[in-house]
This record gives sequence, structure tokens and C-alpha cells, in this order.
Amino acid sequence: MGSAADMSERKDLTTRQGHPVYDNQNLRTVGPRGPATLENYHFLEKMSHFDRERIPERVVHARGATAFGHFEATGKVGDEPIAKYTRAKLFQEAGKRTDVALRFSTVAGGRDSSEAVRDPRGFALKFYTEDGNWDLVGNNLGVFFIRDAIKFPDFIHSQKPDPVTFERQVPNRVFDFISQSPEAMHMVMLVFSPRGTPASYRTMQGFGVNTYKWVNAAGETVLVKYHWHPKQGVKSWAGSDLATVQGQELGVHTKDLYDAILAGDHPEWDLYVQIMEDHDHPELDWDPLDDTKTWPENDFPLRHVGTMQLNRIPGNFFAESEQIAFGTGVLVDGLDFSDDKMLVGRTFSYSDTQRYRVGTNYLQLPVNAPQTRVATNLRDGEMAYYVDEAGDNPSVNYEPSVTGGLEEAEKPSHVEQGPMIEGRIGRGRIPRTNDYKQAGERFQLSEQWEKDDLVANLSDALNQCDRHIQERMLWHLYMVDDELGARVGEGIGIGLDEVKSLEPLATQTLNDEERERLANLG
Ligand code: HEM
Repeated sequence: MGSAADMSERKDLTTRQGHPVYDNQNLRTVGPRGPATLENYHFLEKMSHFDRERIPERVVHARGATAFGHFEATGKVGDEPIAKYTRAKLFQEAGKRTDVALRFSTVAGGRDSSEAVRDPRGFALKFYTEDGNWDLVGNNLGVFFIRDAIKFPDFIHSQKPDPVTFERQVPNRVFDFISQSPEAMHMVMLVFSPRGTPASYRTMQGFGVNTYKWVNAAGETVLVKYHWHPKQGVKSWAGSDLATVQGQELGVHTKDLYDAILAGDHPEWDLYVQIMEDHDHPELDWDPLDDTKTWPENDFPLRHVGTMQLNRIPGNFFAESEQIAFGTGVLVDGLDFSDDKMLVGRTFSYSDTQRYRVGTNYLQLPVNAPQTRVATNLRDGEMAYYVDEAGDNPSVNYEPSVTGGLEEAEKPSHVEQGPMIEGRIGRGRIPRTNDYKQAGERFQLSEQWEKDDLVANLSDALNQCDRHIQERMLWHLYMVDDELGARVGEGIGIGLDEVKSLEPLATQTLNDEERERLANLG
């Protein structure tokens, strides 16, 4: 736009009031050296707007980059017609395209922090469907550190700078929390492996992580997990690469993504789902609503449902990346929530923070607005940009009314089959916690270089922790896998005998298999 070639097309500068600006270099003053005057509208507008340029950064996932493209459905789930499982319109026809926005992010750092860090990566999708927006807000690792939303603010505080010294990512804070939260061990195996340092956003997987439901035309439901596989392949750095990359470019992932898209090299991901009957599956030794667990692909195979391509970068980073707002509550007909305790908590948190971070009317911004009709009685508030479609009588901003205005849509013909739920209200852990088994399987399935990297990264971080935190973490790592415990123990100079006498945490209930492991550690 501002290139030398099109200088002849430059346009006159104005204020936001539309007044031409004749002098953008000098304050209006009494004489060339004199005091400035207060009616200096152009200066006051320019300066006070500048003073308000920043909005609060996201409380997590502050550093990120958005790109745009489309999703193309296969009309099937694996070999079966998809309508058997969901009536969601975007999936039904082979070749049907839906516009998408995808924001990648790191989690713990601030808005301008380095992208070459050990951290999960966010993988947040917005589908602009004909039934309104659907957001799928996931990560690149498939599981999470905790399984109950009430722990999230504490967990994130442990990841953020020390509130007194503002020292960043102090391993002692991180492992202080994690060592008391055994459900985090599966995620620790991933974050401290090469998967915690992806080589680029284009070469990462994405996962919905939480368990959702699909609903078909008969109102029947199944549980689903979402998986995105990059056609570019999966590539990660070893921990030792990080400092070099960081020294070269803090925004290495954003640059890689935007350079590729601008060069016409459009990244693509295949979307797969795993499906499970909608009940609590007592035959499993883990809970299908536990986001610290993956569903074994042998038992719950991946089924292809479509492909996404990214082919446009934002026209303006602030408008389309900083202000974009995703949330787990944003579903369309045919998709539903499960009772996953993280998902329920997340669903409150996202729109709550966005009403504060972006503003009450954040859904009126073009990047957040659905590409469908919006007709509500929601009115006014900070920065109300337009009035939603109001029906035949704009004075009637309430419902029901016999004098006009909007009315309830006609009920769809499908049967609502909400689940029957019975239980005593209270607080408690899910019964099938099984915190170590999948973490151990993950370690055993890793390639040798991945095991070596994991051991080196964990030893390095734990070497910066207090002794009692090191001992508790080592105890957990032995519970995950003897080889892992022994190797990290060697890395931090603590032997099995020194941790063998530790009792399980008071907050933990071990299952039979875990009790047996504990009796035979090493
Ligand atoms: C961003 C809360 C768990 C993925 C956010 C934001 C909040 C939040 C407040 C900032 C949103 C904004 O300012 O627009 C929570 C809570 C959680 C939770 C309360 C648990 C109870 C998770 C999990 C995942 C995840 C399990 C991964 C599956 C993301 C992503 C973003 C995000 C990808 C960035 C979205 C974007 O790019 O704008 N989360 N989160 N979160 N969260 Fe979570």
C-alpha cells in the first residue's frame, strides 16, 4: 500500500471525525514557540487514541498468530455416512467448504514473548458455518495438566512470573504445583519431550483435548475427540536447539507461518475423530471425560472427516488476531458438550474474559461475528457498533410480546434426548484417576532420542528446584516408569532409596495396580 510504486495514489489524511489534516507535524500553539492550546482537537484525538492502543493481553495464550482458510468435509466419518453420528451441517456433504480462522499460540508468555519455548501450543479454530460459529479450542498435545477447572487459576499462576520478583517460568513454581498434582504426569511426559518444542506451527498436530458429543437427527449422541494431523508432517526441536533459535528470532513460528502462506505454500491438516458410545464405560480403567487421558487408537480408531487449508494472513494483526475470541461454549446444532469438568469450566471462562478483554460487544467485530443472520434483543453496552436485527418493530426489544419484535424460532423436528443424571451434589475426584499408566506407556513408546531429550529436559528443570520438590517429582517419575525415574534421579543426584519411603500424597487414591507398583518401585 505504501510502496513507492503507488505513491501517486496516496490519499489525504483525516481525523476520525472526517476533518482533513493539513499539518500532522506541529502542535497548534500561540506563536511558533508559544504554549499549546487545549482546543487542539487533532492532537488530542491522536494522542488519546494512542494512549488507548493496547487492550489487556489474553491472561493465557497471549502470544499467537491467526491465519484464515477453509475446511472441506468428506461427508463421511471414515467409511460411514457422517449423518449416522451428527447432523451438524458443515460435515454433511462431500466437498462442502466452510470458512475458518485458526489462531496458534504459546501459553505462558506475554504478548511479545519468544515463541521458541518449551510450552504447549494453542490450536484454536473458528468455523463460520451456516448455522453460526463453531469454535474448537484445543492444543498440540492431546491432553492437559489438570482435569478439574477449579484448579486452572492456580495452575496458571504457577506458570507465570513470580508476583514479587517477576522472574519468569521459575521451575520451582511450576514443579511445586505439578508435584502435588499427579494427574499432570501424562502432560509432563509430552511437554518435556521434543513435542513441547514444535519446530513450527505448520508441523504440529492439533487436538480438541476435551471430550465433546455429536448428536444425530434422531437425537442420539456419541462421545467424540478431535484430532488434526498436519499434511506437512510433525517436526519438533530438541531442547538444545531452543537457545539458538530464540537468539535468531523471537517470533519464529509466526514468521514461518506467514512467510509460507504469503509464498503460496498453504498448510493443510486432516481432521479425524474418535468415537465412543455415550456412557461412562465402566470397562475402561480411565474415565472418558478425563482430559489427562488419550483414547487408545487401536480401540477407538481415527476416522477421517475433512481437511483444512490456511491460505490468508490477517489484513491487520490487531483486528484479526488480537481481537479474535474463541470459546468452548460456541457450538452449532449437531455438536454438544459432555460433562468433562474442564470443558464445563472453560465454557464459562472464555466469553467471560472476552467481555472484559475485548469488550461487551466483542461479537460485533467482523472477525468474531458469525457469517449468518444475528437477531437478538441484546442492546447497548461499551462500543455497541450496530443494533442486531430487530424484527418488524425496533421498539420491541423484548420477548414475548403481542405487539411485534422477534419471536422464538420454530422448534426443530428432532427429538431432544438429554441424559438422565442422578447423584449427590458435592465435591470429589473422579474415581478412575489412573494418573501414571498412560504416562508410562508414552515413555515406553518414545524413540531413544526422545527419551534422552525428555530425561535431559526434566533433569535440567528439576536441578533448579528445592530438594523436597525434586524428591516428590522423582517419586512420581518412578511411578510412571522405573527407567525414567532412575535416569532423572541420576541427572539430579538423588537415588531411589531416598524417595522410596515417601507416602502417596494425601490427595491421592492409588488403584490396585498403582499400589503394587509402589510396593516394587525400581
Ligand atoms: C485461551 C481459560 C483450559 C486452550 C484461554 C483464555 C482463557 C482460558 C481465559 C484467554 C481467552 C481470551 O482472552 O480470549 C481456560 C480455563 C481452562 C482452560 C479456565 C480450564 C478450566 C484449556 C485447555 C486447552 C486450552 C484444556 C486446550 C485444550 C486454549 C487456547 C487458548 C486459550 C488454544 C487461546 C485461544 C486464542 O487463540 O485466542 N483459556 N483454559 N485451554 N485456551 Fe484455555
